[in-house]
This record gives sequence, C-alpha cells and structure tokens, in this order.
Amino acid sequence: MNTSVKIPGRPIATAQPSPQFINLYRESSAGDTPSAVRELTEGLLATPSIVSPKFFYNALGSKLFEAITGLREYYPTRTEASIFAAFYPQIAATLVENGIQKPCLIDLGAGNCAKAMTLIPHLQPRQYVPVDISVDFLRDAADQVQKSFPALEIVGLGMDFSAGLTLPDEVQSHDRVFFYPGSSLGNFQPPQALQFLQHMADSSQGKARGLLLGIDLVKDVSTLEAAYDDALGVTAAFNKNLLLNVNELLDANFEVHQWRHVALFNTVQSRIEMHLEATQDLTVNWPGHVRQFKAGERIHTESSYKYTLETMTALLRQAGFRDVKHWSDPAHWFAVFWAAV
Ligand code: AVI
Repeated sequence: MNTSVKIPGRPIATAQPSPQFINLYRESSAGDTPSAVRELTEGLLATPSIVSPKFFYNALGSKLFEAITGLREYYPTRTEASIFAAFYPQIAATLVENGIQKPCLIDLGAGNCAKAMTLIPHLQPRQYVPVDISVDFLRDAADQVQKSFPALEIVGLGMDFSAGLTLPDEVQSHDRVFFYPGSSLGNFQPPQALQFLQHMADSSQGKARGLLLGIDLVKDVSTLEAAYDDALGVTAAFNKNLLLNVNELLDANFEVHQWRHVALFNTVQSRIEMHLEATQDLTVNWPGHVRQFKAGERIHTESSYKYTLETMTALLRQAGFRDVKHWSDPAHWFAVFWAAV
C-alpha cells in the first residue's frame, strides 16, 4: 500500500512499499561456511569429481542462466510459457475447484521472478514468497515484483531449499501452493526428487494445498543436446562460471581456459549430463588440499532428468499427491502439472 508523507514546502513524497526479505542462506548453509567448503571438497576429491549444480548460481551464474532462457536452442522456458499462456484460466479454475481462493504462492528457485509475474494476475495470491539461493539477485527481483504489484504482500526468502523446506513463521501457513516451474525438479536425482515431492505433499509441513510443477519431457536427442550446448556458447560459459564460483568459495585456483564444456544425453538414465572436461593434465589447489586432473578427466556439474507424462504422474502419486493433472504443448515437449495435497 502506498503511503504519502507531506513535508512542508516540498511536493508530496510517495513511499514505495518494499518486500520483506529474510536471508536464511548466509546464516545456515552459507556458501562460505564450512558446510559448502566440506561439500565442495568432498565432491572435488571424489573420482569422478562431482559438484552440485546449486554452485552455478552466483550473481554472474544467475545472469547467465537468464541469458540461456532466451536462447533459440533452449526451448523449455518458452514452451512452458506457451503452456501457461494457453491454460491460465484452466489452471486458476483448478485451484478454485480445490477450494483455494487466495493462495500463498511459494516460488521455489524464483530467480528473476518473471514466471510468477505472469501467474500472479491469474491466481491472485494473498502472499507471494519467492525463494532462491542467489540472495542479492532475488532481492532485486522481489523489488521489481513489488513495483508491478504494490498491494501484494511479498516475503522474499534467501534459502537453499534443497537442504530442507522448513519455512519461517512470516510465511502464511494456510493455502500454501508451491510453484516449481522450469523443470528444476529434473536437476534432482530421482530418489531425491521423490523425497522433495514427499516433503511438499506432507501437509503437516505448514498447510500445503498443492503444487504447480513445470517439467521437461523426453524428446529426440539432438533437440535435447542442442538445448545444453548452444552455438553462442552461453551454456558453456554458465558451466565454466561454476569454477569461478568454486575459486571464490574455496579460495581455489581453477583456470577456466583449461576446461571444456561437455553436454550429452544419457538415454539409459533419461538425463542430460553436463560436465567440465580437463583439456590437459593439471593441478588445482585450495587450502589443505590438492587435486590432480588428467587430460580428459571430467567434473560432473549437472544432471537434468527428462520425464514422460506417465513417469511424472506416477512419481507425483508415489510422493503422496492425491489428484494429478497436466497441461502440455501440442508437441508434448514440456508439461505443467497440478498435484493436489
Ligand atoms: C535450472 N534447470 C532446470 C536448468 C536445466 O535445464 O536443467 C539448468 C540449465 N542447465 C543448463 N542449461 C540450463
């Protein structure tokens, strides 16, 4: 709500509403606290090395990801947007049919909040809760949402929700609807995806009513691989920027030019894999540790699982959601699921 302050002799100054922001990330599982250092060290010393994709998202990584979503090859973002555009009324009606009138919309991995901004006018949430690990990026994005929707109550949460979904008391406890678009669930290993969904479906975790989930579907390999290895090299930069983030978090000395971006579809596991491959024998140091890489040795940086309509429906049911429906594009490249608790 706008409030006006009259200062004698001056024009009326209008105070803009600003979102509440709670940063749980730096305090609990901060990128520079022992937990991240331990996790990164363990993963890098393993053979093969592995680093969680959450370490893509420093400030530059979030901007690079935003650039990826605009690439011709990266079809998921625009396909998902086309599904929402085609089915907003049906999606809003589904929530109403489930008795949800003014939800608390919890946007997991909100990033620039662009997807929620298109959804808010249709779902009319009472409270909007964008959640992201990229704290400063989210803070700016939440400010933008507030400018577009001055009357909306916004509680921004800086949080690593992959480590747990316990939300602070400031988040409205009734009529919670999780919004998890962009196929981010695909970045979990299937057992972790199931666990995460079970956590959302567990209504004792604050009164969750349902989940609106965007998920990428299995399709021909060339389309999938091009989406993760674009001609401009933006995805390659996104992948390599992880090394810069690791350098900062660990005080390590990765040299970006000694690494090559690799993206491939693993048909057996139904997942895109991204790796960083050493182009020469090299040594990386960080306090207390040293890791030698042979030329051709890889660090596994991301898996992006692709589901079918059937496998995702089954997973949601297995997680405990009682009612599952979906909307898709004509080519069935992507789907938006509603799963009621
Ligand atoms: C965030 N996530 C769903 C993206 C994906 O498609 O798995 C991350 C990404 N990695 C490379 N390009 C985009």
